[in-house]
Amino acid sequence: MTHPNDRHAGDREFATKLIHFGSEIDEATGASSVPIYQASTFHHFDLEQPPKHDYSRSGNPTREALESYIALLEGGTRGFAFSSGMSAISTAFLLLSAGDHVIVTEDVYGGTYRLLTTVLNRLAIESTFVDMTDFEQVVAARRPNTKAIFMETPSNPTLKITDIKRIADWAREQALLTMLDNTFMTPYHQRPIELGGRPGAA
Ligand SMILES: Cc1ncc(COP(=O)(O)O)c(C=O)c1O
Repeated sequence: MTHPNDRHAGDREFATKLIHFGSEIDEATGASSVPIYQASTFHHFDLEQPPKHDYSRSGNPTREALESYIALLEGGTRGFAFSSGMSAISTAFLLLSAGDHVIVTEDVYGGTYRLLTTVLNRLAIESTFVDMTDFEQVVAARRPNTKAIFMETPSNPTLKITDIKRIADWAREQALLTMLDNTFMTPYHQRPIELGGRPGAA
């Protein structure tokens, strides 16, 4: 998480973080809120020394500010912004490989369900849907090839609440990746990274 203008941003109260995230002053112009950089490409002034940003898909100052801000609010180390929830979820699942298995909240959002059951299944990524509020079901779903656990809590549509800490602690013991869709709550009321037992970790 980069806060070149303010190293103490992470120590502040949540309400203050919402207003001041530490990098809101634009270094190039002094603008007191982050300008919207619309350029797709950035000039190379020196062939030997590439600029920090060269192409907006790989990095853009406006998006970088958003990503740093979200990481600060979530208590994480890095943020990655996507143009939709499903693009973020699809990308997260690309951490898996053919032959891997994932344990998923049973009443997960329809788009996530369809991604798993009509696309990722064709790529030999298997999923088991369980009532994530029942810890025994989660444990029973574990297979030798289980690689990750995907929680959605509160779930959409039935708003079931998963005990994030219990599941995340177990997942870590089992060396599984933990993924969590926090659509409804925001990091004000629900703090998945800290509940995952690794404050300050991604
Ligand atoms: C829990 C949950 N996850 C993911 C999504 C997908 O988000 P998007 O429509 O931005 O792709 C939604 C959309 O309602 C959702 O409710």
